[in-house]
Amino acid sequence: MKGLRVKNRLGLAAGLDKNARLINEFDNIGFGFVEVGTITPKAQYGNPKPRIKRLISHESLLNSLGFPNEGVRSIKSRLKKVSGDICLGVNIGPNKDTLPEEVINDYLLCYEEVFEYADFVTINISSPNTPNLRSLHNSENFKAVIDAILNERNRHQKKPKVFIKISPDEESKTYTNLIETINNSAIDGVIISNTSNNQNLKKSLNVAHLPGGISGKSLKNSSNKILKEIKTMINKEKIIVAVGGIFDVDSYNEKFELGADLVQMYTGLIYEGPNLVKRIVKNDKQISSNS
Ligand SMILES: Cc1cc2nc3c(=O)[nH]c(=O)nc-3n(C[C@H](O)[C@H](O)[C@H](O)COP(=O)(O)O)c2cc1C
Repeated sequence: MKGLRVKNRLGLAAGLDKNARLINEFDNIGFGFVEVGTITPKAQYGNPKPRIKRLISHESLLNSLGFPNEGVRSIKSRLKKVSGDICLGVNIGPNKDTLPEEVINDYLLCYEEVFEYADFVTINISSPNTPNLRSLHNSENFKAVIDAILNERNRHQKKPKVFIKISPDEESKTYTNLIETINNSAIDGVIISNTSNNQNLKKSLNVAHLPGGISGKSLKNSSNKILKEIKTMINKEKIIVAVGGIFDVDSYNEKFELGADLVQMYTGLIYEGPNLVKRIVKNDKQISSNS
């Protein structure tokens, strides 16, 4: 798919295999590509528990994990062993206690440690659970981060694709500016979207008083709206990975109708179980889209 060698068009979204311990297992249940992380430079515990709530009647989750992970150096030892036929994405972010002026260095440090093993590296600017992270959607901050990563990529022969993972909760103008910057850069694509922190959505689910972002069926509409909007703005050669609310073949197909090149899933797998992956992939006419 536009130069990314995936086995099929359905991938595992970031956040389930945070420490890259289950890459082979997720490959075995039928995912066409696997994204691990979010990985930060130092190990961190994340936010206090409880930090995941099942909103069962809405087939949704509320999570405020805050990037618990073992830290990039420890996780790297597992990335080295991943079989070459698996399309591997590594999602990177800053530690919670990193000062705003040091955040670029956190992304760079993670990139330097993982780029050799990754088919794509995702710059996560969209978790609602790390303070100030979403301020990186503003063009100036954002440009500084991508310039640093793209310069670093240019210094090496191995050049993984670089994706940006986007929030579903920004204003239209923010997306316009962000996509313009992406169009004028060598960024390869976008992942739309992370969880939603929208207060109206959280109110409608009776969780406005709790921290965290919504995923699953309740995220689908806002995520699809942003997907549709970004599709009209983004250059054709960029890869669009859509994620948010995929639970069946119809919601999977809908993402392609709205302009996605690839899709990912997390919450659907939690509610429906691993057989969902093969059910969806079996129905995909474009099952092997390597190119
Ligand atoms: C418990 C949980 C943890 C997550 N952790 C991460 C993460 O570490 N990094 C990230 O980029 N996205 C993370 N996500 C967001 C998912 O990758 C995905 O963008 C979002 O859940 C929407 O997809 P879904 O509706 O299929 O779950 C997490 C989602 C959940 C539910």
